[in-house]
Amino acid sequence: MTDNKETVFICRCEEVTREEVEQAIRDGATTIAGVKKRTHAGMGLCQGRTCRKLISGMLAGRRPPEEIVPPTFRPPVRTVTISEIAQGDEE
Ligand code: FES
Repeated sequence: MTDNKETVFICRCEEVTREEVEQAIRDGATTIAGVKKRTHAGMGLCQGRTCRKLISGMLAGRRPPEEIVPPTFRPPVRTVTISEIAQGDEE
């Protein structure tokens, strides 16, 4: 991460800058997953809800749209006990 006044964060959760995403694309990332592996963008608290579209836009500016592979989505999950299921939704 650079510390100048023109730093633009693409992924606020992981503090990934535009320059880092551009470098990942220059290094060969052709998909959102490729950018994610190189920068951790999309691995933060919001799970990419904010940055995914921005990264897609950055990839779209450099590659033909048919070459951009859509990302897979894995919603955040937590363990649920059998007793919680048995109790149902009482809220
Ligand atoms: S803004 Fe990228 S994971 Fe939240």
